[in-house]
Order: sequence, then C-alpha cells, then structure tokens
Amino acid sequence: MAQFIPNITTESLQDKVVVVTGGANGIGASLVELCCQHGAYVCFGDVDTASGEQLARKLSAKTPESKPRAYFLTVDASNYQSNVELFRTALKTYSKIDHAVAAAGIVEIGNWFDPALTVETVEEAPPIKVLEVNLIGCLYFARIASVYLRQNREPGADRSLTLISSIAGFKESPGLFVYQSSKHGVLGLMRALRRYIALPTTHDIRVNAICPWMTDTAIVRGIEKAWKAANLPVNTPLHVARVVGGVVCQKGLNGKSMYVEGGRAWEIEDNIDRLEPQWLGEEASRTLQKGQEVLGSGMDWAQ
Ligand SMILES: NC(=O)c1ccc[n+]([C@@H]2O[C@H](COP(=O)([O-])OP(=O)(O)OC[C@H]3O[C@@H](n4cnc5c(N)ncnc54)[C@H](O)[C@@H]3O)[C@@H](O)[C@H]2O)c1
Repeated sequence: MAQFIPNITTESLQDKVVVVTGGANGIGASLVELCCQHGAYVCFGDVDTASGEQLARKLSAKTPESKPRAYFLTVDASNYQSNVELFRTALKTYSKIDHAVAAAGIVEIGNWFDPALTVETVEEAPPIKVLEVNLIGCLYFARIASVYLRQNREPGADRSLTLISSIAGFKESPGLFVYQSSKHGVLGLMRALRRYIALPTTHDIRVNAICPWMTDTAIVRGIEKAWKAANLPVNTPLHVARVVGGVVCQKGLNGKSMYVEGGRAWEIEDNIDRLEPQWLGEEASRTLQKGQEVLGSGMDWAQ
C-alpha cells in the first residue's frame, strides 16, 4: 500500500519560512495556521484581503511587527508581478524562504460546452480565469520560487515546492472542463519539474503535488448536499493541510502526488510507474523506458 502518513514535527518546522498563496481561506488558511503552530513563519497571499489580514493579525498577536509570525499580502496568483512581490516581501522580512506552497485556486466558471450555444453566441470568447489562477498561477509561482528558495541558503538546507492539484488532476471530472484541464496541468508541471529542479546541479529543490478529493470549503458548495446525502468521505481543510505539512517536512520526498480522501492520503506516482508494464504492455513499456532514459533530466530540451 502506498498510504502516506504525515509526520509534522516542530523540529522540522521551527523557524522555517513558508510562502503560501490562497492562504486566507480553506486549505491554505489551515496550512498557514498549522505551520505557525509548529513554529514556522508564514508569508501568505490571497485576493481576499479582509480574511487574510484577520488571520495574520490573529497569528501574529504575540510577535514583533518587524518579524511577525504570519505576514499577509494581497496577491493575485494569476498576476506575475504580484507573485514576485509575495516572494520579495517574504525574503525581505525573514531573510530566507525554506518552503513554498501554491494553494490558490478557483472552481469552474459557467459552462464552456453549453448545449445552448449557437453560431452567434460561440463567437464571444469564454472566460479563462480558472486556467489563469490555477495553472498559469502555479507556473508563475514555481518559476519565482525556484529562484527565491535558493537565496541565503545554508549548505544542505532542505527546500521544497508543493503544488495543490486535485482529484481532477488525474481522474475524469465531467462538467469541470477548464478546472480539470488546469489541475492536469498542475500535475504535469510537477512531473516536468521533479527530475529537473531537484538536481543539485540546477536548483536542488524538492517538488510534490497534492490531489485532494472532496474537501469541505467554499469551492464545493455546489455539490456538497448531494455528496453528504450519499454518505461519501469528506476531508476537512485541516486534513489536507496536514498532508501538505507532512510533504513539506519530509526531507528527501520528491516527485510524489498525494491523493487525499476522508483525512487519509495515498501516494499515486510510484504505482503508476510500477504498474506501467501491466496497463501499457511489457514491450511498449520497455521501449518507453529507453526513451525516458535518453531524455533524462530534460537538459537537452532546457538548453
Ligand atoms: N475543496 C476541495 O474539494 C478541493 C479539492 C481538490 C483541490 N482543491 C484545491 O485546493 C486549493 C484550495 O482550495 P480550497 O478548497 O481551500 O478553496 P477556498 O475557496 O476555501 O480557498 C481558495 C483560496 O484561494 C484564494 N484565491 C482565489 N483566487 C485567487 C487569486 N487569483 N489569487 C490569490 N488567491 C486566490 C481564495 O480567495 C481563497 O482564499 C485550490 O487549488 C483548489 O483547487 C480543493
């Protein structure tokens, strides 16, 4: 079994600096609190300024203004400069950044494939905000993190990047056309990065993804009632935050995706690889493996 049991210790988080997007509500807010409770400093951003400021005030009540336990900044994850500002502020305030977690996300807007569309109405371009926040936002965040996580780094210090994907990152999700595309993209980004930025010769940064199933936050209000009526498992935001925290704390953990269901987590990447000869066929899997070896860490593409 590939069950993942998070082990969050004050020893691994004490005085660490964590940057989080989407930290004002839901999973992100639970993560911000969890990290602060274990002695970390958190610099977090969100578009929800009121909730973000309130959370930062609550967590920083006993710490000096110059180095608050939690620092909130209004950040639009879909805006490149806004992401830069978040990392710049974190580095200026805390002198280093140990871990970065991209948790900002929004759910499907409207119906891109509405059967009522006509040749006239289809001429109007549909909204792409979901892609901009969930996928482009993660790409921006990861790029900037890859630089900021290397600043003022002591030799051998652990650095990690965690991206929040979704069950929709690997399992079909009818109706969530743009959301599912964005979350597959997030998982794809983690897979493209894991053999590249983890190398000591590039960035030496671990990268992992989290794929929560139904979690009780604002995002799922539309389906909440039917879900609970079917008596299916539900994560609390804290359940998911604990898995994120466990991934952040586990030195050496790289390139993994954690599926989170009802408070429990399973790693899925190892079994996808291990079982490839079964689902693809042994010969095709062997040939594919040879191609993967030629491509290696992707240095030829990245030249
Ligand atoms: N709730 C679930 O069932 C579920 C399942 C799978 C994945 N997720 C993912 O978990 C992450 C957190 O979502 P949540 O469930 O806690 O929902 P949530 O709505 O409670 O929290 C999302 C946070 O992101 C913020 N946000 C939205 N747009 C933003 C932007 N442009 N810039 C910065 N912040 C922005 C919101 O203000 C909010 O604080 C998302 O990436 C979501 O897709 C959630």
